[in-house]
Amino acid sequence: MTVLKVLVYPEKSLLQPSVKVDNIDDELRQLIDNMGETMFDAPGVGLAAPQVGINKRVIVYDVNARSKEDDETPEIKEEFRALINPEIISASGSTVSKEEGCLSVLDYNADVKRYEKVSIRALNLEGRKLEFNVEGIPAIIMQHEIDHLDGILFIDRISVLKRAMYKKKINKQLKNQ
Ligand code: NI
Repeated sequence: MTVLKVLVYPEKSLLQPSVKVDNIDDELRQLIDNMGETMFDAPGVGLAAPQVGINKRVIVYDVNARSKEDDETPEIKEEFRALINPEIISASGSTVSKEEGCLSVLDYNADVKRYEKVSIRALNLEGRKLEFNVEGIPAIIMQHEIDHLDGILFIDRISVLKRAMYKKKINKQLKNQ
């Protein structure tokens, strides 16, 4: 397994929609393994393929993300799951606002409104159709990661003013490099 380079805003592949996967082959399985490794190395709780420069509809997430937040003991085994062509088929509950960050958005966190509960449809690594409901932290992770597949970053879901300030900061940093 290899730790991949995580691209950061304003890299192009982060801003464009990804294509559906129609073939689950060794290359894809390799990509998913590497994405899992990269996510834990960062560390993060979710990662989408466009973040490593591959515009395919694939995400990985840390299955223990919730327990890690609730639990003081950090000794939880690293375990991730991959979803292929994930979609949100329904969303419910009041919207919750939680502070989010992203491995592709450097030095910045902001509150983002998300649905409390979502129903997800996806394929697993064996190509089997899955449908399941998530709520709380995993629901936020799913919405954040699926957004990546549509070229949307969490900074696209904050106020125009906050986004403009962030972009200004990044452009300044890029100029000074
Ligand atoms: Ni992200």
